[in-house]
Parts: sequence; C-alpha cells; structure tokens
Amino acid sequence: MESVRAAAALLRDAGAVVVFTGAGMSAESGIPTFRDSLTGLWARFSPEELATPEAFEKDPELVWSWYEWRRAAVEKAAPNAGHEAVAEIGGTLITQNVDDLHERAGSADPIHLHGSLFAPRCFDCGRATTGAVCAECGGRSRPGVVWFGEQLPAAALARAVEAAESCDLLITVGTSGLVYPAAEIPHVAAVNGAAVIQVNPRPTPLDEVAAVNLRGTAATLLPAILREATG
Ligand code: NAD
Ligand code: APR
Ligand code: ZN
Repeated sequence: MESVRAAAALLRDAGAVVVFTGAGMSAESGIPTFRDSLTGLWARFSPEELATPEAFEKDPELVWSWYEWRRAAVEKAAPNAGHEAVAEIGGTLITQNVDDLHERAGSADPIHLHGSLFAPRCFDCGRATTGAVCAECGGRSRPGVVWFGEQLPAAALARAVEAAESCDLLITVGTSGLVYPAAEIPHVAAVNGAAVIQVNPRPTPLDEVAAVNLRGTAATLLPAILREATG
C-alpha cells in the first residue's frame, strides 16, 4: 500500500521518534474504547457517574468497582501485534491509556498522561497507596487515573510536550484526538516541524496535521510499517 511505504520511509529516515497512543491501541486486545459508536465505554456508562472526583466522593465503592472491573479486563487481555511493533519502534512513547499493555509488550518507560490502573494513590495527598488508606495521611486510596476535570500529572505532561517539540516524527495511533490537553501533543509536534503519521480506521481532527493518514487498525498497520521500514 502506497501510504505504508510513505510511512515506512519517514520512519526509516527519522532521528527522534515519538509514538502517541489512545484507546484504539488496545481495541484489538479486547479492551473497549471510550467513544467508538456502540462498543465505546461512554456509550454504556456515564463518565460523570464514574470518572470524576465528585463521583468518587459520592460513592467510592461504585467507582472502585468500575476500575477493578477494568483492571481485571486488562489483566485477562494480552498485548496485540500493534503494542509489540510500538515496543520495537522504540523512541519516546506517550500514552493516554491506563492499561499496562505497552509495558507487557516491552515498551520500557511509557509516559502515562492519564495515569494507570496499576498505580492507586491517596485521594487527599496524592501519594502512592498499597492498601485502602494512605500510610502517610490516612486518606482514602483512589484509582490512579486522571478523571474528567482533573489536571494531568504535570511532570508527565511536561516530558510529553518536550518530546513532541523535539522529535522529527510523531506516529499517532488509536486516538480520537478530542480530549485536551493530551490531544495537543500531535499538534505540538507538527508546529515544531515534525512529520505526523496517523493510524486510525476513522477520520479524526488529527487528519489535518497528518502527512500520512493510514485508515486501518494498529495491529495490522504498525507491523506492516515496521516490516517495510526494516525489510
Ligand atoms: P478537561 O477538559 O477537564 O481538561 C483536563 C484538565 O487539563 C483540566 O483541568 C483543564 O483545565 C486542563 N487543560 C485543558 N486544556 C488544556 C491545555 N490546552 N493545556 C493545559 N491544560 C489544559 O478534560 P476532561 O475531558 O474533563 O478529562 C480530564 C482528563 O481526565 C482528560 O485528560 C481525560 O482524558 C482524563 N480521563 C480519564 C479517564 C479514565 O478513565 N482514564 C476518564 C475520563 C477522563
Ligand atoms: N486501531 C486503531 N485505532 C482504533 C482501533 C484500532 N483497532 N479501534 C478503534 N480505533 C480508534 C477509533 O476510531 C477512535 O478514533 O481509536 C479511537 C478511540 O478514541 P477514544 O475512544 O476517544 O479513545 P481516546 O482517544 O484514547 O480517548 C482520550 O478520553 O475518556 C478519556 O481518559 C480517557 O484517555 C481517554 C481520553
Ligand atoms: Zn495521603
């Protein structure tokens, strides 16, 4: 496919590479995305009831059960060929996902902009927790993900912006590009002169910055680009 060849040429010639991923990255591992038509999580559950600090204050048990359910689903899932290709591409990996499939595929140090299902922390002081209450301040342990209306972890966002500003190539995979400030990252790369490759079966606002737009899935296209680039 012409555009796979074009993407492979960009990857072959790139110095600093950033890979930026969203929920679509894990779709072929059986983890539902958020906004995909009927299968999307937000089509079946309301984020206001489950993914906000107010929801946690109102009913911590309900919110915990939702995130325990998602963590159990992730533990049953396996990384797909797309995660493995991302690990082989290397460079800097920035993900909006809260699952650990990139780590399990061999990506060393993903920047988690929205936290992780595997990093619970204290609702009051933010420190990492292991049990139901914070060893430091006695506050309640909460899922370690960023909720609607919350600030993203400042250090992670700063690292991500710095990588986007200084890369030659950014590959964006499986994100609708709708939720800020994470959605800013591919635009930061483009305005700083990087080429952007998009992998997504559907159109997104990122179509306008993509030099190469690949309409297809992560588990098919990322290995194809890698084979063509290293073949
Ligand atoms: P939002 O519109 O509230 O923005 C997120 C936060 O970043 C807000 O505090 C906002 O002030 C700030 N912000 C917005 N635009 C910014 C920019 N350009 N630069 C710097 N800061 C900016 O986002 P949201 O849709 O309410 O969701 C908040 C975050 O939580 C999002 O990143 C979302 O992806 C995440 N989230 C995670 C889950 C989950 O289950 N993992 C669920 C829902 C939301
Ligand atoms: N391969 C590649 N892309 C895919 C695949 C696939 N197999 N399946 C679906 N997609 C695409 C969809 O076309 C869609 O554009 O993945 C995208 C998923 O978009 P969202 O569900 O909006 O997920 P994401 O962009 O990660 O959402 C951003 O919003 O609710 C918050 O914190 C949550 O991190 C999430 C953020
Ligand atoms: Zn605490």
